[in-house]
Amino acid sequence: MYRIHCMNNISTVGTAALERAGYDFVDEPGAADAWLVRSANLHEIGAPDGLLAVARAGAGVNNIPVERCAERGVVVFNTPGANANAVKELVICGVLLACRDVIGGAEWVREASDDPQIAKRAEKAKKRFGGCELAGKRVGVIGLGAIGAEVADALIALGAEVMGYDPYLSINAAWGLDRRIEHATDLGQLLGSCDFVTLHVPATDETRGMISAEAIGRMKHGAVLLNFARDALVDERALAEALDDGRVSRYVSDFANPESANMRNAIVLPHLGASTGEAEDNCAVMAVSQLRDYLENGNIVNSVNYGRVDLGPLAPGETRIALFHENVQGVIGQVSQAVADAGLNIENMSNVSRGQNAYTLLEVTGPLDDEVCERLASLPRIRRARLITRP
Ligand SMILES: NC(=O)c1ccc[n+]([C@@H]2O[C@H](COP(=O)([O-])OP(=O)(O)OC[C@H]3O[C@@H](n4cnc5c(N)ncnc54)[C@H](O)[C@@H]3O)[C@@H](O)[C@H]2O)c1
Repeated sequence: MYRIHCMNNISTVGTAALERAGYDFVDEPGAADAWLVRSANLHEIGAPDGLLAVARAGAGVNNIPVERCAERGVVVFNTPGANANAVKELVICGVLLACRDVIGGAEWVREASDDPQIAKRAEKAKKRFGGCELAGKRVGVIGLGAIGAEVADALIALGAEVMGYDPYLSINAAWGLDRRIEHATDLGQLLGSCDFVTLHVPATDETRGMISAEAIGRMKHGAVLLNFARDALVDERALAEALDDGRVSRYVSDFANPESANMRNAIVLPHLGASTGEAEDNCAVMAVSQLRDYLENGNIVNSVNYGRVDLGPLAPGETRIALFHENVQGVIGQVSQAVADAGLNIENMSNVSRGQNAYTLLEVTGPLDDEVCERLASLPRIRRARLITRP
């Protein structure tokens, strides 16, 4: 059975599912067929030759050398959407904390806690901590993926008007969005018309610094910025100036760093977005189920370095070959030829590429064995060939 090494503590809901399925847990990373990981930085750790997959219980994969893994035929999985509810709830909390000075008010009560006249004083003090209501305000949601879409729905349910901006939204995802979300065709349109702006895009070369000094200058005077995505999206130095002079009234961020921690009018949290027991359970269950589907059936669902292939479960007694290769012309031809030379006929095949990386899952009529697998592995441009059998 397969051996798993956990690079971090993984929710027992996930690990117990593996134990029940007969998987072994090993202490030595080099002895494992697959790694489960949350935040451990894998950039400095070399992957052992036998490593087949890395499954991250979480969405971001900045801590994993995704392309280096791909070049060696190591599939990297993540768990998109598994923590979306947890992040959404904290974003809504952030929006409400920005509406009213709940934190200032609670601090005032704590400081005055020894005063027997506190109730009387509170009635006078409370005007300092008043605020506005969310209902009727316009909120711009940048990025309408798993988290952004849930945030938009929750905001609408609370009576806000929502404008969304996501030029890369798939048609399927767009169909699933609430029709009350107004569609912004460019970022400037959203920034210039919203009272609140909330970020839900990944940190990529394109999005890094997207809330630049210029973008901040386009925001409505006194708007609130919420950032539960990544701090690299915001030019926080420019933002600090805008917070100082009131052009931006508040910044609510989930990313504490020396710049954000010292900002005026900011509420900065220590990356709490996905920190709920439920989110950790959801991520672990999803990571483990995707990992099992790959190890036991060769299917790849939710990988960040190889495309999606799903031939369903492998029937008892059947065998598949999983081939990782460069995405270049001629590879499929040479594979078909090698299979034919071994006296076998391809019965079912799924081939999918992503960038430079391609994956082919083969079912053939006739007995597949290690020898055929080794022959396929030795073909040019093939990175790895793996025989998958189900007893
Ligand atoms: N605070 C936390 O604890 C926490 C937890 C999970 C995720 N996150 C962050 O939230 C981000 C979003 O997570 P998700 O699960 O919704 O991801 P997702 O992949 O489901 O959605 C991201 C969306 O951003 C869109 N997008 C990409 N580039 C864009 C651009 N230039 N302009 C507008 N839209 C763009 C994509 O089309 C996609 O719809 C993650 O990348 C991660 O950085 C934070």
